[in-house]
Amino acid sequence: MDTAEALKRAAGIAACEVVSSGMKVGLGTGSTVAFTVIELGRRIAEEGLEIIGVPTSIATEKLAQEVGIPLAELGELAGLDVVIDGADEFNPEFQLIKGGGGALLREKIVAQSAAAMVVVADGSKEVKKLGAFPLPIEIIPFSWSETTRQIKTVLSEHGCGGEISLRRRPELGDAVLDGIDFPVAKGGGVFVTDNGNVILDCHTGATISDPVALERALLNCAGVAQVGLFNNMCDAIYLAAESGVRILKKPDGRLA
Ligand code: A5P
Repeated sequence: MDTAEALKRAAGIAACEVVSSGMKVGLGTGSTVAFTVIELGRRIAEEGLEIIGVPTSIATEKLAQEVGIPLAELGELAGLDVVIDGADEFNPEFQLIKGGGGALLREKIVAQSAAAMVVVADGSKEVKKLGAFPLPIEIIPFSWSETTRQIKTVLSEHGCGGEISLRRRPELGDAVLDGIDFPVAKGGGVFVTDNGNVILDCHTGATISDPVALERALLNCAGVAQVGLFNNMCDAIYLAAESGVRILKKPDGRLA
């Protein structure tokens, strides 16, 4: 295991301390929180931990089943005690960019149902200003190029320029929407989310100075299913470094 992988593992496992028997736990998506899911499976098998998990993607559902975590639909439960998830970026206000793995919509639905949100990350995710990581926006395929135009306008009204690329299947690389007529319908190479939508990656650079206002404005575009800005949701970050895992708690957060 290389250093980056070891840090992900350390953060993913450390965050399991917030989970105890009887809890309903949201299970995030990504390579860091995968270690959390595996560790929870281990505790169920070896320590008798009793939890119910709600996965945020088909990939996480599969992993959780493999490691023996009992699962339920969100609608069957009256809210979750906690969700543990990864992030692509976080800023000093605990605002996040998520969706690098394409699961942002389900991740946000699950996070909104949780009494607290814990993020697992390493130092590469920590930024002063959000946006160096391209902001993922999940949009419905219908009239997607019109939605893309609207998004471009909203971004520029908020001082965020840059190219917008339609996410393709990872092995094919990004398609830059210069002419905005990329053939989504025909494009077998397009990345399709668990919800049958597509993703735009907005290469704004680190220019997102008001994530709350930007999220609100983007959600105003009818074709936008969800925006990868997670504002005022994250309560604590388990941040792994070679010196160990630090727990950053949001001062006015639900775990403070
Ligand atoms: C999935 O859609 C994302 O929100 C992930 O949580 C995020 O990309 C972090 O993933 P890694 O832990 O793999 O970096």
